[in-house]
Amino acid sequence: MTDTAAAPSASATPATPAPVAAAPATPAAPASAATPIAPVAAASTEALNAHSMHTHTCGQLTAAAIGEQVTLTGWVSHRRDHGGLIFVDLRDRTGITQVVFDPEVIGEQFALGERMRPEWVIGVSGTVRARPEGTANPAMYTGEIEVLLTRVEILNAAKTPPFAITDGIETDELTRLRWRYLDIRRPEVLAALKLRSAVTAAMHRALNARGFIEVETPILGRSTPEGARDFLVPSRTSQGSFYALPQSPQLFKQLLMMGGIERYYQIARCFRDEDLRADRQPEFTQLDLEMSFVEQDDVIALMEEVMAEVLEVAGAPHPFPLPRLSYAEALERFGNDRPDTRFGLELVDISAVVAKSTFKVFASAVAAGGVVKAINAKGAGDLSRGEIDKIAAVATEHGARGMAWIAFTSAGEAKSPIIKFFSEEEFAAIKDALEVQPGDLVVFGADDFETVSAALSAVRLYLAELLAVPREGHELLWVVDFPMFRYDADEKRCVANHHPFTRIKDEDLDRLESDPLACGSYSYDLVMDGYEIGGGTLRIHSTELQLRVLKALGFTEDEAQQQFGFLLEALSFGAPPHGGIALGLDRLVMLLGGFESIRDVIAFPKTSSGADPLTGAPAPIAARQLREVGLRLQ
Ligand code: AMO
Ligand code: AMP
Repeated sequence: MTDTAAAPSASATPATPAPVAAAPATPAAPASAATPIAPVAAASTEALNAHSMHTHTCGQLTAAAIGEQVTLTGWVSHRRDHGGLIFVDLRDRTGITQVVFDPEVIGEQFALGERMRPEWVIGVSGTVRARPEGTANPAMYTGEIEVLLTRVEILNAAKTPPFAITDGIETDELTRLRWRYLDIRRPEVLAALKLRSAVTAAMHRALNARGFIEVETPILGRSTPEGARDFLVPSRTSQGSFYALPQSPQLFKQLLMMGGIERYYQIARCFRDEDLRADRQPEFTQLDLEMSFVEQDDVIALMEEVMAEVLEVAGAPHPFPLPRLSYAEALERFGNDRPDTRFGLELVDISAVVAKSTFKVFASAVAAGGVVKAINAKGAGDLSRGEIDKIAAVATEHGARGMAWIAFTSAGEAKSPIIKFFSEEEFAAIKDALEVQPGDLVVFGADDFETVSAALSAVRLYLAELLAVPREGHELLWVVDFPMFRYDADEKRCVANHHPFTRIKDEDLDRLESDPLACGSYSYDLVMDGYEIGGGTLRIHSTELQLRVLKALGFTEDEAQQQFGFLLEALSFGAPPHGGIALGLDRLVMLLGGFESIRDVIAFPKTSSGADPLTGAPAPIAARQLREVGLRLQ
């Protein structure tokens, strides 16, 4: 996949303004750092000049406009005094145009040019002219021309900004977020927001064309169990009661199906009070949709059509239909259910090979019902002991009790403290299973399946980084056939793998009570480049089955009625079969733009401690406000 080549270039259509430069703010892994932020459709250039103080934008003028009288507005990006002439780079969201103060032409307003400072807001009028011989700048879309000013108006002065308004700055993120509005003036940040806007526009177009009705659902509501902690809002009128901000519109979109809407969508804000990571924010956005009278393949096919249009717009066209991997196979081969399939380093099960070996760690893991799995880190056979220890540290950080290894040096030696435990046949079988060649490093995990999977999947990603394994372009796939439940060791009970409204596979209905953990579900996650960018399921549409599932989750009938009575009732009034999916918009745009964090594609994100450095949220409130909602702080 060559999304680089697919990105439309500004020169393709002369009327197109220069695309904003595309280096990501936080470069991702070396391979993906090159991913361009797709230029966004230029239709808005002409529209931007209507109903405006300016006749043209700063990113628009080329040699074709020489001789025209124009008015531009924008921010002073840079000023140069050149013996009697002053040059100002004037910037707006579309680009930069060089404007010239010549005292012979602009007269006494020349003095304003001398006072001009970075980030002052000005309006200028003048004549477009060709830059003098030898001074054209081919790297700039407007580099052939400049505007000789006849008039300037200072619309606002500006303090010196705390960091340079330009791409590629090294300013720390906290400082950038503290003055995020200045940060947004930087082309690379702006480009992320434009990309996001183009992606959502494509989603609206694709879904409107397919019979979807956009419906808004409440923000103040009741808790929906998506598995995270709720954000709560105290009620003033009903003191002691609380609204919960929606973790997703899940129950409302199901109610809309019962309302006969048939096809619903919403670009929906969701709120989850969970520990933040690079791909998690306390408030984030989903493309949320739901469909009636569908099977799993219908939802998947529809979503693929939408994704095809989105990826096209983002300059990253992708072949469809997408491959599907079962949950079981994803775990077996990659150790997790959101595999980055752009590279190998797959997990190989060697339990059978080492079950009888004299290496206790391996033999006892197998004897206890666990597994021994290994990864062949091709090309890592000559790593130093210290570097291997760092890989082992990744394994133990992710729950492993250790990480055995065998290094096969390029010189043809096999080094490892554990070789002595294997018979010749066992050693040969290990090499065979992992297709070992000189220069390879084999690393092992031995424990129960979950522990080995978690540790080796982390090791796999670490190795890809360490060995600079190319991960170019984007790879999307579906992971399907998730189990309905998983066992939560902390809570000592079954919890829903996706959510409690997910439909159990028809063939498993009989064992829901007797063997819940063996029940499959109609469920599908959309995975892109190692991230879960979406997930959905078919839903239960009968009261009776919904109650059985809630009971399997540990609800008594009373508790189920109390929390979900409205849903159980709605299901009894003629609920159609239905299902849907939600895409994590922030994650999708992050990947399309080549960013490492979803903060880079959110206008005003929260820091990892959940704070907004710009407004100071969260903030203490007045005693009166607390009294009004009947609360007292401890
Ligand atoms: P789920 O919980 O899987 O499903 O969420 C759907 C997608 O939303 C994204 N996502 C997040 N993105 C940023 N920050 C977060 N804290 C965060 N949490 C989730 C992920 C995820 O795949 N109601 C169901 C959907 C359905 O069944 O139709 C739901 O919310 O990309
Ligand atoms: P030990 O016998 O504890 O000295 O361990 C020998 C080697 O096996 C070391 O490299 C350990 O890191 C490794 N090891 C220990 N426990 C495990 C495990 N559960 N899985 C994989 N390797 C392990």
